[in-house]
Amino acid sequence: MRDQLKSILEEATKQLRNASTMEEQEELRVKFLGKKGELTKILRSMGSVGAEERKAIGKLANETREEIERIIAVRKEELKAVQQKARFNAEALDVTEPGRPPKVGVRHPITRTIDEMTRIFMNMGFSLVEGPEIETVFMNFDALNAGPNHPSRDMTDTFYISEDVLLRTQTSPVQARTLLAQKPPIRIISPGRVFRSDTPDATHSPVFHQVEGMVVGENVTMADLKGTLAEFARQMFGRDTKTKFRPHHFPFTEPSAEVDVSCFKCGGKGCRVCKGSGWIEILGCGMVHPDVLKVGKIDTEKYTGYAFGIGAERIAMLKYEVDDIRLFYENDERFLKQFR
Ligand code: DAH
Repeated sequence: MRDQLKSILEEATKQLRNASTMEEQEELRVKFLGKKGELTKILRSMGSVGAEERKAIGKLANETREEIERIIAVRKEELKAVQQKARFNAEALDVTEPGRPPKVGVRHPITRTIDEMTRIFMNMGFSLVEGPEIETVFMNFDALNAGPNHPSRDMTDTFYISEDVLLRTQTSPVQARTLLAQKPPIRIISPGRVFRSDTPDATHSPVFHQVEGMVVGENVTMADLKGTLAEFARQMFGRDTKTKFRPHHFPFTEPSAEVDVSCFKCGGKGCRVCKGSGWIEILGCGMVHPDVLKVGKIDTEKYTGYAFGIGAERIAMLKYEVDDIRLFYENDERFLKQFR
């Protein structure tokens, strides 16, 4: 039995030394010290041994157990250190390695164009207001002097949500909302998204953007309108830009005009951008119709106003020479990253 105990200790020492994981070590602990382990087996078979001898063997068995436990404890610390080291190695960071440059995005060309227009008008003292994209038929049409028979109210042009509610076809309803909410002097711009039931092609998109502007006050005249928009065009397209006001019709302005700018690409000689004419149409405008002012119960004897509406995509296409409006909405990085 003494020999058996001795060989158990030797075996345990040897095998524990070879155990390379905590799991293996635990298996060995069970194998040697567990309830069905080798040491227990020996103690069980002690019945045949005399009392004196049993005492001595019992002592030796306990010493053997203690020794094995001690070895296990030592091995455990060693294994822990080894495993920790392996983990540290695996997770090691090379703090001297140069970082990967983060991908920095750019503002979308439409956002950029709207921001630029907004900045120009805000520098002239306009303040920014917003209107809802889901609008009432009243605000989008009736309040703007486009009665029940106006062609733009047609289902084929407009996305209706119900009989009285639609996706706004223009930012102009913000004029009506502002006249209801503010008292003159009023000087606002309102950029935003608008919707028309158009089939997409190179120049049409069912969703696009406009920037609306309106000024109402005492002694506001067409000269103010012309001066403001001419200065806007110079800041937007270059100091040499000329403007031309052509008579036009909009239901909510009287008189109404469309504004052309001299081609900033060729300076007016005629080129691809201006289609040879030397001029480019950029916006609609006019003096606010008295019927529209009346929506806000504004005294039309005392106050007058002007308004304008600019298509953001159109400006961006001209400025950046983009020949297909759909490029703005495809989110193709090859297109977008050119606007750095
Ligand atoms: N709302 C018009 C459109 O979508 C653009 C416009 C024209 C706005 C004249 C105005 C304006 O404020 O005075 O075609």
